[in-house]
Amino acid sequence: MTDLTSLLAFRWSPRSFDPVAELTRAEVATLLEAARWAPSVGNRQPWRFVVGHRDDEIFKRILVNLPPDEQRWAGRASILLLAAHCQTGHPFAAYDLGQAVAHLTVQATALGLHVRQITDLDRGGLVADLDLPGDVRPYVAVAVGQLGDPFSLPADLLAEETSLRHRRPLAELVMGCAGATA
Ligand SMILES: Cc1cc2nc3c(=O)[nH]c(=O)nc-3n(C[C@H](O)[C@H](O)[C@H](O)COP(=O)(O)O)c2cc1C
Repeated sequence: MTDLTSLLAFRWSPRSFDPVAELTRAEVATLLEAARWAPSVGNRQPWRFVVGHRDDEIFKRILVNLPPDEQRWAGRASILLLAAHCQTGHPFAAYDLGQAVAHLTVQATALGLHVRQITDLDRGGLVADLDLPGDVRPYVAVAVGQLGDPFSLPADLLAEETSLRHRRPLAELVMGCAGATA
């Protein structure tokens, strides 16, 4: 089997972000450009993003709408993005948004950055606090930054941060195709 491209092999989702590292405007623009070029059903491009830089007002408004457990680490990220999609009645909008975030994540890896996503959001709170249009649905928060010191995390998160990552074996995810993964 051929090795994975290094961008995928090196990607992982930490919680130990460097609490002083900042992203440049150019880096943020590159991340969004990667999302912009994602494929989507009918090229509808239903993804929308709100960008908060650590300690600015938008960052605080995204952070406060995360569960307290997630706030413990997400507040250290350099940026918090709210990733949302337009509610056009199209059933694949969330799928398309996921592809856009995946593109963004790979681009972040290319920039030496890390990403962790958060689905547990107060969506109503975000709509109100960020004054979002009624047809835009908040979907995930995306924390982006540089890797920091895992030992600065609370003990329970440190344990998770340093544990082995697991995946199902390849043979388990290819159904009805004996030999396809050999
Ligand atoms: C859509 C999505 C939602 C996620 N939500 C959370 C979350 O709410 N809290 C969290 O700590 N991690 C969250 N994660 C991170 C996953 O737990 C992580 O990607 C998974 O454990 C695999 O680890 P890896 O990304 O390092 O390969 C989320 C990831 C995705 C893709």
